[in-house]
Amino acid sequence: MSTFKVLDKEFVPYLSEADIQAKIAELAKQLNVEYAGKKPIFLSILNGSFLFTADLFRQITIEAEVCFIKLASYKGTSSTGNVITAIGLDTSVSGRDIIIIEDIIDTGKTLHHFLPQLAAQQPTSIKIAVLLNKTEALAFPVKVDYACFDIPNKFVVGYGLDYDGLGRNTREIYQLKES
Ligand code: XMP
Ligand code: MG
Repeated sequence: MSTFKVLDKEFVPYLSEADIQAKIAELAKQLNVEYAGKKPIFLSILNGSFLFTADLFRQITIEAEVCFIKLASYKGTSSTGNVITAIGLDTSVSGRDIIIIEDIIDTGKTLHHFLPQLAAQQPTSIKIAVLLNKTEALAFPVKVDYACFDIPNKFVVGYGLDYDGLGRNTREIYQLKES
């Protein structure tokens, strides 16, 4: 693997395809046991999670559903900060076991604002599975239940993750090169 350039920035190889796939296989194995007979819904947050979700879900052998949503934030009418809405949540989550699938957790802000709305629909359980967990960046009280990798607070691209919309279409993950 060599240096990867996206727009004006240079990235260096960080996680190999083999490392990523090994962790995903491990996670799938665990979920296949923990969710057997529960018919969970994998709630995948677009865009970044699409490759992770596909690779994970194809290894899920128990009965399960998958639903792709987009989280859009907009300013509320008051100045109380961001409101997050889920676009594409057309499946009822009431009484269901939900596994949120995220590519990366950074500050946790997005999920922190979205979780209460999901909880309001009274699912049986909500768990969070992420490919990358930027543990040092976490600033909101979000509990990550399954993380494939704990990573330092550095910008990464590839395997679904983007820099300004580009760089998603790789099998490896790259880290911003120190200048
Ligand atoms: P929060 O702070 O809400 O952010 O947990 C999560 C979202 O921020 C984006 N993000 C990144 N995207 N490389 C990326 O390509 C990164 O290193 C990175 N860090 C955060 C991402 O969209 C994620 O859903
Ligand atoms: Mg994302």
